[in-house]
Amino acid sequence: MNRKRPLILAIESSCDETAAAVVQGPDVRSNVVATQIAVHAKFGGVVPEIASREHMQAVVGVVSKALRDATVELDDLDGIAVTHGPGLVGALLVGVQMARGLATAAGLPIWGVHHHEGHLASARIVNDVRPDLQMLPHLALLVSGGHTTLVDVKGLGRYRILGQTRDDAVGEAFDKTAKHLGLGYPGGPIVDRFAQKGRCDAIAFPRAMLDQPNLDLSFSGLKTAMAVYLKKHGQPQSSAELADVCASFQEAVAEAITVKTRRALKQSGHLRLHVVGGAAANSRIRQMLQSMTAELGVELCCAPLKYCGDNAAMIGLAASMRVAQSCEAPVQVQSYIDLESLDPKAGA
Ligand code: KG4
Ligand code: ZN
Repeated sequence: MNRKRPLILAIESSCDETAAAVVQGPDVRSNVVATQIAVHAKFGGVVPEIASREHMQAVVGVVSKALRDATVELDDLDGIAVTHGPGLVGALLVGVQMARGLATAAGLPIWGVHHHEGHLASARIVNDVRPDLQMLPHLALLVSGGHTTLVDVKGLGRYRILGQTRDDAVGEAFDKTAKHLGLGYPGGPIVDRFAQKGRCDAIAFPRAMLDQPNLDLSFSGLKTAMAVYLKKHGQPQSSAELADVCASFQEAVAEAITVKTRRALKQSGHLRLHVVGGAAANSRIRQMLQSMTAELGVELCCAPLKYCGDNAAMIGLAASMRVAQSCEAPVQVQSYIDLESLDPKAGA
């Protein structure tokens, strides 16, 4: 195997996207995502049991398409990478069993990838791909449906969590707000769209924990403030009012994130900020971080929109980085895996 350009089939099924990709070193040769959004929408969130069943129905077609799109046969591959956690165990198992079956049939090695290491790698897919497949030192802001974390990245596998949400994740806060407003699921992109036409200072929603010196965040108070506002004023009666509510909510989230990220940059001394995860697609969060990093002279690298949400290309890229550094991990399915435990040199 050419460790600088291994040909890898990657599979991701940790939540509600069945995804497969073929990557060759830093190049994404195919990227297929089958989303279950429509199935879970009527429940206002992901139903784990349904997610597993949907993955089972989709996985063979998704993997076949990824191989076909890349014009790659199973025998051409150097290995198979699969997300082994964190995530919904029943959902993870579908991807892992598929990967195990293919690896056994073709006599290929199989590697486990931490879902968040995949997100961390995603910022490099287009913006910052280096042929050496290094994970450069940077501060990462991971904002997804399940996580809101500021990570000090010293190198591949060398992660230290500087701060995180004490309650709801950013994407979750958007999803719950959209639900309160009767806007559908997932709420992030919908609220973002309405917010573009609203006044961000129309309603003074709280920015929690900004007076505390730590780097943690909290969004449950904001969620309550939204519920209280809607109880008092009722549902927005016009699209202009709805836009104002969305814009004011989004502003509160983006400002809280920006303040803590700025503080984390100062504390860590990093001159690069990578923003990854589903909620990294948010237009106002991107805009505010853009202004803040420009002011500080920090290089900003947001994951391309296509790779913000869950996908397998990022899993393949993380695996490529590990293969390049000869520190591939065995597959061990777990609902929770500590990001700080992945240091290859510590024998993880
Ligand atoms: O990373 P992801 O696909 O799945 C997880 O690993 O959680 O993130 C999905 C989350 C959802 O909560 C969704 O509402 C949020 O990302 N999201 C957004 C936007 N697009 C997706 N949140 C805010 N603004 C957006 N534009
Ligand atoms: Zn994710």
